[in-house]
Amino acid sequence: MNNFEFCSPTDFVFGKGVAIQVGPKLKALGATCVMVQYGGGSVVRNGILETVTKSLDEAGLKYIVKGGVRANPEVTFVREAIVEAREAGVDFLFAVGGGSVMDSCKATAAGLCHDGDVWDLFVKKDGAPVYPIDECLPVGMVLTIPAAGSEGSDSMVITNEELGMKSGRGAEALRSKVSFMDPTYTFTLSPEQTAAGITDMFAHLLERFFSETGNVPITDNLNLSIMKTIRACAPRVLENPEDYEARANIMWAATLAHNGLAGMGRAGDWACHAIEHELSAIDASIPHGAGLAVIFPAWMQYVYKENPERFVLYGQEVFGISRTDDVEADARRAIEATQLFFISLGMPARLADFNIHEEDIEGMIPTLIANKGEIFGSFKKIGADDARAIYRIAL
Ligand code: NZQ
Ligand code: ZN
Repeated sequence: MNNFEFCSPTDFVFGKGVAIQVGPKLKALGATCVMVQYGGGSVVRNGILETVTKSLDEAGLKYIVKGGVRANPEVTFVREAIVEAREAGVDFLFAVGGGSVMDSCKATAAGLCHDGDVWDLFVKKDGAPVYPIDECLPVGMVLTIPAAGSEGSDSMVITNEELGMKSGRGAEALRSKVSFMDPTYTFTLSPEQTAAGITDMFAHLLERFFSETGNVPITDNLNLSIMKTIRACAPRVLENPEDYEARANIMWAATLAHNGLAGMGRAGDWACHAIEHELSAIDASIPHGAGLAVIFPAWMQYVYKENPERFVLYGQEVFGISRTDDVEADARRAIEATQLFFISLGMPARLADFNIHEEDIEGMIPTLIANKGEIFGSFKKIGADDARAIYRIAL
């Protein structure tokens, strides 16, 4: 078991009707002027934004509202938000939406404390960030889609449209101060958004489960149990979008999958996330979860021989695959079960489904290396040629 430090300072407020507490909670956290960000308008149509602004009004807090965060959020929007927030004297960033809106708020909050262009914070040298993030304005959110886990994570992911680059950044200062989670808010998600979110949270668990660290039973069992819960609840939310119990379990699973707990004492791999981010960087309309549904099984096929026994344990616990004497065959059955699970959600299986083909692969390699360095991953060390091979398996 590796050494670790785990600090999850977020106040998670969970259940039906919790968003009416936004105003009082933010006031108690010392907010005086809030910038509320939202995405393309779903929270206007379903009334969630109004609930939030009403609560801020009732608490007597000043606020400005800035809509228009795109899925796979862009640095240009963040730059605009920083200018507007500075002019208005904003001291709290509040997201109403999913990972994209939250990450836009995190980047705005960190950018407001950085003396220079906010993109500096995403620049890496040999895979490591160039600038520290020691300071960041406080951030909070009302979560409307369980997926990215940004409501509890220490990270943010932003796209630089001019450079064609999507880059993630982690820092403890980025963690949400307060995250409001009402499962009824997820009833309006489309089947595609629901499925992409489920794939992403499942992938966050896989990234932590498959690494070079040996078995860490306390963490591994917690991780496997979250995966099993997601598998059990996924068909229920797709069949009945208003199944409160299933939606609630999925929502909390997404947070537990990515606040760090499911990987304590283990290295994480994160090669698939890096390889996927290049897909959304060349085509922002590719949902992150859908990209992962294609990349993860391909990566598994490429790496499983490093430690097939780990795949057998996963297949047995999550998919109920019984062991035989042939460890490699059992591992391959676990990989097949993973891909079938994603397909059962309605996720794509091949890069061709995104209109990505052999001739696109080479263009993704330089930014991948700029983001992650020459060698990355943990379960198996991945370099440029390995990444090319994984993209090819996924074609
Ligand atoms: O923009 P609106 O109109 O609100 O519609 C959104 C958006 O189109 C819609 N939506 C959200 N809640 C809804 C809803 N539609 C109807 N009813 C609701 N209740 O869903 C669409 C997707 O939203 P988005 O925020 O993009 O989804 P998600 O939470 O999956 O976030 C994806 C982003 O997070 C990053 C991804 O790379 C991607 O940029 N990630 C962030 C991480 C982090 N900060 O820790 C980790 C992840 O691995 C991930 O990389
Ligand atoms: Zn993810």
